[in-house]
Amino acid sequence: MEKTIGIIGFGRVGGSFALALRDRTWRVNVLTRFPDNTEGIRFFSKDDVEEFLEENDHFLITVMDSRIQEKAEWLSRFPVEGKVFLHMSGALPSSILKPLKSKGAHIGSLHPLQTFPERNPNLLKNIYFAFEGDEETERFARLLVQEVESSIFRINPEKKVLYHAAAVFASNFADAMWIIADMLMREVSDGDFRMMEPLVRTTLENALRMGPQKALTGPARRRDRITIEKHLRELKKYPQLEQIYDVITGFILKHFEEKGA
Ligand SMILES: NC(=O)c1ccc[n+]([C@@H]2O[C@H](COP(=O)([O-])OP(=O)(O)OC[C@H]3O[C@@H](n4cnc5c(N)ncnc54)[C@H](OP(=O)(O)O)[C@@H]3O)[C@@H](O)[C@H]2O)c1
Repeated sequence: MEKTIGIIGFGRVGGSFALALRDRTWRVNVLTRFPDNTEGIRFFSKDDVEEFLEENDHFLITVMDSRIQEKAEWLSRFPVEGKVFLHMSGALPSSILKPLKSKGAHIGSLHPLQTFPERNPNLLKNIYFAFEGDEETERFARLLVQEVESSIFRINPEKKVLYHAAAVFASNFADAMWIIADMLMREVSDGDFRMMEPLVRTTLENALRMGPQKALTGPARRRDRITIEKHLRELKKYPQLEQIYDVITGFILKHFEEKGA
């Protein structure tokens, strides 16, 4: 049986899905403001939306978060009864697609716990997806996740924002720390962040192998207040970095104190 999907938005996530499913012989239709001629993908513009909706029963809404609701409202003006729609935001509940539900469509959200700095189908493999929504969308979400060789788990919509904050800590904030490390390394040496590769790799490998609690080392973990004070004195030249250092050090001290570790 030929599998077909309609993808709304050809950005980093939508494009990654389009390419991954095309490579797995799905029929892939994409609705976008900027149709191109990527091989094996059929592009539709908004003038062809009715045909786009007729061609597919299952859809991914992969526009940026701030545009999801208006996209759902716009699509709900066309026949959508019985169709399945999933958006891919980690912070928004599936209920943002209510306009589609009120027209008889099935709705859900499927968030890839991954970072996509570019369109790259390989980033969808061996990852976790957080799902919430109705039964019909769950069936489709499971098929999709299986197809890209990943795993799915259910998330309570009320806990979704906190779940998304956890992902921000794990990925975006880790990257922000590397930006700071890079700035300081450039200031004190001819090198840069790349010299920290073994340090970063070992830190990550240890955190994954032992768990982040056991993997943590450094002055705050050792409660070495003399070194901490020295760092803070030097960082006075960079008030924002001093603040960040102080807040994170405070977290580490309190966290392990409470654990009695
Ligand atoms: N990037 C990530 O790391 C990541 C990770 C997990 C989940 N997500 C989620 O995946 C979804 C898509 O994110 P993304 O990073 O792929 O977004 P993106 O690359 O920035 O672009 C998404 C799409 O949004 C549409 N768009 C952008 N500006 C618009 C405008 N002014 N008016 C109408 N449409 C506009 C575009 O559709 P056209 O094709 O029509 O141009 C674009 O392709 C979001 O819900 C996001 O939260 C992203």
